[in-house]
Amino acid sequence: MSSYKVMKTPGDTSWFLKDRFGMFIHFGLYAMPARHEWIKKLECTTEEHYDLYFKYFNPDLFDAKEWAKQAKAAGMKYAVLTAKHHEGFCLFDSKYTEYKVTNTPCGRDIVKEYADAFRAEGIRVGLYYSLLDWHHPEFTIDWMHPRRRDKDAEEQNKSRDIKKYAEYMRNQVTELLTNYGKIDILWFDFNYPNKPNVEGIYPPVTLKDWMVGKGEDAWESEKLISTIRTLQPDIIINNRTGIDQDIWTPEQSKPSEWVKHPETGELVPWECCQTFSGSWGYYRDEMSWKSDRMLIELLINAVSYGGNMIMNVGPTARGCFDERAENALLVYAKWMRFNGRSIYGCTMAEPEFKVPDGCKLTQSEDGKRIYIHLIEYPLNFLALEGFEDKIEYAQFLHDSSEILITKKRVKEMGDETGQEKEVIFLKIPSLQPKVTIPVIELFLK
Ligand code: GLC
Repeated sequence: MSSYKVMKTPGDTSWFLKDRFGMFIHFGLYAMPARHEWIKKLECTTEEHYDLYFKYFNPDLFDAKEWAKQAKAAGMKYAVLTAKHHEGFCLFDSKYTEYKVTNTPCGRDIVKEYADAFRAEGIRVGLYYSLLDWHHPEFTIDWMHPRRRDKDAEEQNKSRDIKKYAEYMRNQVTELLTNYGKIDILWFDFNYPNKPNVEGIYPPVTLKDWMVGKGEDAWESEKLISTIRTLQPDIIINNRTGIDQDIWTPEQSKPSEWVKHPETGELVPWECCQTFSGSWGYYRDEMSWKSDRMLIELLINAVSYGGNMIMNVGPTARGCFDERAENALLVYAKWMRFNGRSIYGCTMAEPEFKVPDGCKLTQSEDGKRIYIHLIEYPLNFLALEGFEDKIEYAQFLHDSSEILITKKRVKEMGDETGQEKEVIFLKIPSLQPKVTIPVIELFLK
């Protein structure tokens, strides 16, 4: 049993803390411009032009079963699909809006097909729901809104009532939690209650008081959350409504410690969310695709600090994954098939085991196995500290081939007393096995 005490939260995170690896899916109209899911805000796209995406949205190759198969092969145990992103377009047949997938040439309820297909593959089903909505007529224009530069924006706000929008969200979330079976995660995005630092904004904006952002008051987060808990009490809710719930979600970063609660300092359940290339929606011309090593390393890194990773795929407007995304998923499939044991049910290794240079450690739930991930492949030997007489047997994980353990008495560097100490070494084959990041499995006594 791990000695790390993870903060108790209202939902049931027991499965989440074991499953460790998920698939994020960002799909919406923005797949058509194919140059960022924030396109409407970034380019201040006119409503008239954005309507063309709605008019022609036709992901004719969409096959949720195919998505689910690829997620499963990659070793992903849960998924989160954007039921609605900031653009406001709904991938489900909601009775509270006409701005939905069933009114496009697509004509299918994508959320439904996704939920059925992923569940059938044994993958847990989550939904992302944007708190921002750049289409809803009651959503007031603020500094992030695509209409912020309209001459009459302030005027337009007079007829908008954010309370009505908050009610719309509760209604839609109720639909999502009633019509699609058990939902394991509700992933909200996001809170921005303060006036921004003008310097950081792109494209630049002249801030006016009426442009102020939105937070839990605008979303009526408390009511929203209690609606959810009444419908599906165990569901996992992320922390982006402005009210802490079950999981913390650092984005596109590589944490170097267990994520802590900002006020109490407790260790929290966390999930870092990552992309293959930078944007979340399909971005045709993006060149910043991560290397195979980076893909694997990000996952190992998260688990080595007691966290999860959810990796995003942005399907094309034809409704399928493009070749680059498929290849990236195959990188996981190949690695996870042989090394998944160092990820599922594992967590940060006990502090007594010192992390060797160039490595990352994880430890199994029962504490009996340690996994050494050779991020930088060592030359011939790997010295271990803190393991003394605790190891019974060692092997490579991918092929269960024995790794020999040797002990040497060595003098402490710079120690003038001439004292020797016993150091344990693993004998590492000089040729790196053909595994992106090889893992050594240690069986503890
Ligand atoms: C962000 C972005 C976004 C994406 C999300 C995922 O905050 O708004 O487009 O959906 O992060 O973490």
